[in-house]
Amino acid sequence: MHKFNSANRKKLVSEKRKRILPAEQILKNSGLKKDDIMADIGCGIGYFSFIAADILKPEGKVYALDISDDMIDEVKNRMNKEKIHNIETVKTEEYDLKLPDQSVTYAFLCTVLHEIPDKERFILEVKRILCTGGKLVVVDWEKKETDMGPPLSHRFEREEVKDLLKSQDLQIMKEGTVSNRFYEIEAIR
Ligand SMILES: C[S@@+](CC[C@H](N)C(=O)[O-])C[C@H]1O[C@@H](n2cnc3c(N)ncnc32)[C@H](O)[C@@H]1O
Repeated sequence: MHKFNSANRKKLVSEKRKRILPAEQILKNSGLKKDDIMADIGCGIGYFSFIAADILKPEGKVYALDISDDMIDEVKNRMNKEKIHNIETVKTEEYDLKLPDQSVTYAFLCTVLHEIPDKERFILEVKRILCTGGKLVVVDWEKKETDMGPPLSHRFEREEVKDLLKSQDLQIMKEGTVSNRFYEIEAIR
């Protein structure tokens, strides 16, 4: 399975990406609440984590999780520079998110799921850290030709995501499209 190359990490905050994937709008529309405990799983350099931390302060908190040391270092550097206190970074393993059971109220996966070889095992681990009644939001590339993004063969279809979530007893609440390139699916545990 193709993983995002951390050498390209600045692309995650390009002006074009900000335009086609408006973070604040996506987080607010998906119902991120001021007192949520969020897990930004596969946070990269924290494009969503920092905006979420701003929405959540002072009550809520963001766990910024990634398997890449480079990505985690980048988030830590920015946290220190900008004196952000409601983000905690966690260096994870492919199928071990390193957080206690039911410790978050909102789990977020943006352009991560298509990178995971065993998606069922991964979603089971996401479910483990999500509290009962908590929300999972999945944003990923539609499986169709787009002007940027991973090759079609690496993408995971919207319907496959829905089937996967349902198979793990997650209840699909809402789905939509972001800038005609991404699907956004919300489910409740
Ligand atoms: C395309 S980037 C997206 C980053 C971020 N979600 C965003 O939208 O800006 C994918 C990220 O997922 C991370 N990743 C891949 N597999 C992972 C896993 N099993 N657990 C946690 N992070 C993972 C990669 O290291 C990379 O930082």
